[in-house]
Amino acid sequence: MNTITIPNLASEQLTKLTEQDFTQFGERVLELIANTHDEKSLSELRALLQGKKSPISALSKQMGSLDADGKKRYGAYLHELRTRIGSAFDEQNDKLAKLALHAKLASEQIDISLPARHITQGGLHPITLTTERMKQFFVQAGFSVATGPEVESDYYNFEALNIPSHHPARAMHDTFYFDAHYLLRTHTSSVQIRTMENSEPPLRIICPGRVYRCDSDQTHSPMFHQMEGLMISKSSSFAELKGVIHEFLNAFFGKELTVRFRPSFFPFTEPSAEVDILSDTGKWLEVLGCGMVHPQVLRNCGIDPEQYTGFAFGLGIERFAMLYYGIDDLRVFFQNDVRFLKQFA
Ligand code: PHE
Repeated sequence: MNTITIPNLASEQLTKLTEQDFTQFGERVLELIANTHDEKSLSELRALLQGKKSPISALSKQMGSLDADGKKRYGAYLHELRTRIGSAFDEQNDKLAKLALHAKLASEQIDISLPARHITQGGLHPITLTTERMKQFFVQAGFSVATGPEVESDYYNFEALNIPSHHPARAMHDTFYFDAHYLLRTHTSSVQIRTMENSEPPLRIICPGRVYRCDSDQTHSPMFHQMEGLMISKSSSFAELKGVIHEFLNAFFGKELTVRFRPSFFPFTEPSAEVDILSDTGKWLEVLGCGMVHPQVLRNCGIDPEQYTGFAFGLGIERFAMLYYGIDDLRVFFQNDVRFLKQFA
């Protein structure tokens, strides 16, 4: 059902209509068009006024039966009416399209004066930064970076390093075992074994990576990062080891440090030492373990200890990061609190 009703032309008989009838009809129709404010109603109205069933079409059909004069006269009225109605529709159509466009633009308006959304930029984790700092020193000293698996066999983690089963040294490593043969590596010394097996000396490598021990408190976490180093040559000596370590510590901490080598024990090095640095407050801080590679370890890897000697060292990267950045709780490295991490970006 159409809700729109259009004005009637007073007569159904063309020849009974006056010019005024046409004009009046035209005016009422134009008013009706101008008052139609949505596109749907406007096209409905257009169908009623310009369609086949419109009063204008009905009247036009009578044109054929008129004489020449009548044709000229009524033809002109009808033509005039059609033209006025047509342009009124076009005008109203334009007007509605413009209004619709403005409404759309207004609803989609973006306030370019608003502050931009903040984009946070990530940064490298302090452990990564610390590892990179260490690598920087060793790489320029001619060491290359070696890596190995974190799921390791008992052989590479212990046996080849001169730690047979039931050796009391195994108790020093609170190991996560998968079964009798496989475990999570407790140190990256396993990478040194794999490298010695697969390459010919002389060797200079560092092995940074994740290691695992069943231990957790303010200064221990079940997963942490180590960097071990190994140098094998025909002339490696303890003096050289001391020199490299001292140089490294000075370079890492960016100052001339007082360093102490304290005799210690590791099954895979002989002699072995632990290294302490003197803090600003006069306290000795233990920072790493080292020693001359045990002849049995060289032999296990097919290297003749009569020809070659080597030294090795191992350190905890978290410990260095804590000392370097002045952090006293290891756990902050693994909590991923952006307020902490942001400080290193
Ligand atoms: N692998 C030892 C550890 O994890 C560290 C170490 C490496 C000590 C090399 C001496 C030589 O405790």
